[in-house]
Amino acid sequence: MARSKRRSAAGAVGAALAALSWYTWRIETRWLRTVRLTLPVPSLPPAFDGYRIVHVSDLHLGIPLTQRFFPRVVQAVLREQPDLVALTGDVATAGYDGVSQARAEFARLDAADGLYFVPGNHDYYAGVDAVEAALMRSGVTPLRNAHTVVSRGTDRIVIAGIDDVILSVPDLNQALAGVPDDACVILLAHEPDFARIATAEPRVVLQLSGHTHGGQIRVPGLGAVMLPHLGHLYPAGAYRVGNMGLYVTTGIGTGKFVMRFNCRPEIAVITLVRGPFPASNGRDAVWRPDPSSWPVVGGLRPVV
Ligand SMILES: [Fe+2]
Repeated sequence: MARSKRRSAAGAVGAALAALSWYTWRIETRWLRTVRLTLPVPSLPPAFDGYRIVHVSDLHLGIPLTQRFFPRVVQAVLREQPDLVALTGDVATAGYDGVSQARAEFARLDAADGLYFVPGNHDYYAGVDAVEAALMRSGVTPLRNAHTVVSRGTDRIVIAGIDDVILSVPDLNQALAGVPDDACVILLAHEPDFARIATAEPRVVLQLSGHTHGGQIRVPGLGAVMLPHLGHLYPAGAYRVGNMGLYVTTGIGTGKFVMRFNCRPEIAVITLVRGPFPASNGRDAVWRPDPSSWPVVGGLRPVV
């Protein structure tokens, strides 16, 4: 009797684990959400009040499940009728075939002021020049230590991007070369922890990042249990870092572990409005200072 009870308990546990595995692998990885945020920016030019950026990251094309999921992501972005789309890296995984195969889907993506891209570490593993070339054929503009100016009448904002922090040389000074002192800069940077450096640059009002996937597995009460290098300080969500806003998206795809729990894939719709910065939500204090591990980029030092 006791043995049969033990057997049925073991069976129930086994069934629960199988259901959980299925959920993390096949359900949550494709359970897309749209996050909507409003960021007040003191220096935002009046013509950009209400400007809408759709932030998409970490597509990780080349992984079959993600590849099949991508058309739904494109549909979700188009529904938002964005002013601008920001792709913050890891479009590829380990080869650029997936990016080439998604060319038609990229060509469907559209935004009034264009689509901009910075590479992530996986784009380097895949071959960053080939990834960039494939994206450019679909109308996406890469910003590797470079910027572009978006105009509304006589008002302007600057969209800047840095090269990957882990596998290349990010240079914020080069990215902002020629940008006026009073400019309002939105910075695309794959690794979120670069915010510690970007916040020392007063022209940057907002940094958009990915890289962490939010940890992919978030244990209730504990949070993300696995975070990548340069993704520990700001795992996911909206932060204020000094006088700069930071949004870290949980992204779309996954690494080689195709699973998510309590960490759905997302696109983020960020509306810029004129106004004083929101007070710090306290999460800015969550960081582990180890200045020796920080790159000093273009003479800018991390703010400790
Ligand atoms: Fe990454």
